[in-house]
Amino acid sequence: MTLAVYPGTFDPFTLGHLDITERALRLFDRLVITVAVHTDKSTLLSTEVRIDLIQQATAHLDGVRVTSFEGLIAEYARNLGACALVRGFRTPRDFDYESQMAHMNRRMVPDLDTVFLHTSAAHALTSSSLVRDIMHWGGDIRPFVPAMIAEALMNK
Ligand code: COA
Repeated sequence: MTLAVYPGTFDPFTLGHLDITERALRLFDRLVITVAVHTDKSTLLSTEVRIDLIQQATAHLDGVRVTSFEGLIAEYARNLGACALVRGFRTPRDFDYESQMAHMNRRMVPDLDTVFLHTSAAHALTSSSLVRDIMHWGGDIRPFVPAMIAEALMNK
């Protein structure tokens, strides 16, 4: 059984993240989606809410578990027995940051590869911070996030 870990802030989990999740499950038997608890990003949604929303949005998929983590992602993935980290790659702008992280994570845990999946064109320009901005100004976030997440956030 192959296990991969998909880390992120997921504030909130978008259709782009769902696209990566569904495609990663064609490559790996199991996928742990893990919410980063303490990063330098300040978040709108609590860790518990982010986990709950991701669980709802991925309930139709077999082999997904949703967790949170604190500390180094490479160590967290190693402790779970994962063979890879999964990251979405949207535009060339993601390249420097992502390749640096992949390099440093593999220096720390040599068995841990990072697999980049090219985000589908429909979601390539989506970002969680812009979704939050649209929400803040009362805009419609349904084109960008799974339906149950849009409903939950619009009811908040
Ligand atoms: N579709 C749509 N949007 C996507 C996307 C996709 N497929 N993939 C990424 N994004 C967006 C996110 O919405 C987010 O947008 P935002 O910045 O506007 O909020 C942005 O791209 C990047 O977010 P995310 O994928 O959540 O990554 P991150 O940069 O927030 O998280 C961690 C990075 C948490 C994985 C990384 O910091 C980490 O591993 N930290 C732990 C500490 C550690 O190990 N540090 C050493 C690393 S070498």
